[in-house]
Amino acid sequence: MSALENKVVIVTGGSSGIGRAAALSFAKQGAKVLITGRRAAALKKTVAEHKNIVSVVADVANPEDGPRTVAKAIDTWGRLDILVNNAGAGALLPLRNSSAAQINAIFAVNVVGPSLLAAAALPHLEATKGTIVNISSTFGQKAGADLSHYAASKAALEHLTRCWALELAPLNVRVNAVAAGPTESGALTGMMGLSPEHAAVIEEAEREQIPLKRRGTPDDVAKWIVHLADPTSEWVTGQIITVDGGLGLT
Ligand SMILES: NC(=O)c1ccc[n+]([C@@H]2O[C@H](COP(=O)([O-])OP(=O)(O)OC[C@H]3O[C@@H](n4cnc5c(N)ncnc54)[C@H](OP(=O)(O)O)[C@@H]3O)[C@@H](O)[C@H]2O)c1
Repeated sequence: MSALENKVVIVTGGSSGIGRAAALSFAKQGAKVLITGRRAAALKKTVAEHKNIVSVVADVANPEDGPRTVAKAIDTWGRLDILVNNAGAGALLPLRNSSAAQINAIFAVNVVGPSLLAAAALPHLEATKGTIVNISSTFGQKAGADLSHYAASKAALEHLTRCWALELAPLNVRVNAVAAGPTESGALTGMMGLSPEHAAVIEEAEREQIPLKRRGTPDDVAKWIVHLADPTSEWVTGQIITVDGGLGLT
């Protein structure tokens, strides 16, 4: 029997890309999974892929949606073991063009939302000696021109990871992060707002720059999310695992 059998998991942004792959992997190993996202139709498609997955329409940027998401998992299954803060926001945002609204929108999803979700989840995670996995980026540590606010928000998420790991260790709640590199998902045309043509140029440049010479698949990243969340990783906390084909080394 998998150590994840009947564990209850929340994956924010579970209808696409890395979050969808993680949700399916948890579900296939017997966990019950609540996925979130803003678009009901996209959530419905992922829910249809496995009987252990249910969804709630929720926006990580909305402060009321964190507690509502946690309540949905508790109402459905009566417990919570794993919170995956996966949903992200970003933009190519040159400093000279940046506005308060754009900066706040990035930090609302990448920093404030995960914090409010973690706070709402905490009593339930304490009860199950559960765990949090935050999804960062290579650019949480590596500098990137025109990416400063996205990168800074991921750097903040990584430092929250380390601080929460210390703060919650006495409760036996572990906190880790996966820093993903360029991954084949909807992110460039969705989250980053690029045209398909611009996205294709960036993808080709990334393939060239990544030492292992390919962009990742959602499963490349999801397997590390699941591994860190798995109770068999019980002595690992406060770590940022970089899964990026070596991009961070360049
Ligand atoms: N793909 C990459 O190259 C890459 C690299 C490094 C790090 N990452 C990180 O990996 C994470 C997942 O990205 P991905 O590439 O898998 O993206 P994706 O394929 O675009 O999927 C994003 C998912 O999050 C949901 N979402 C977006 N904004 C949300 C919000 N405010 N509230 C709730 N759900 C929201 C989307 O659904 P709706 O649009 O319906 O809300 C979708 O389910 C992000 O944190 C991203 O920063 C990605």
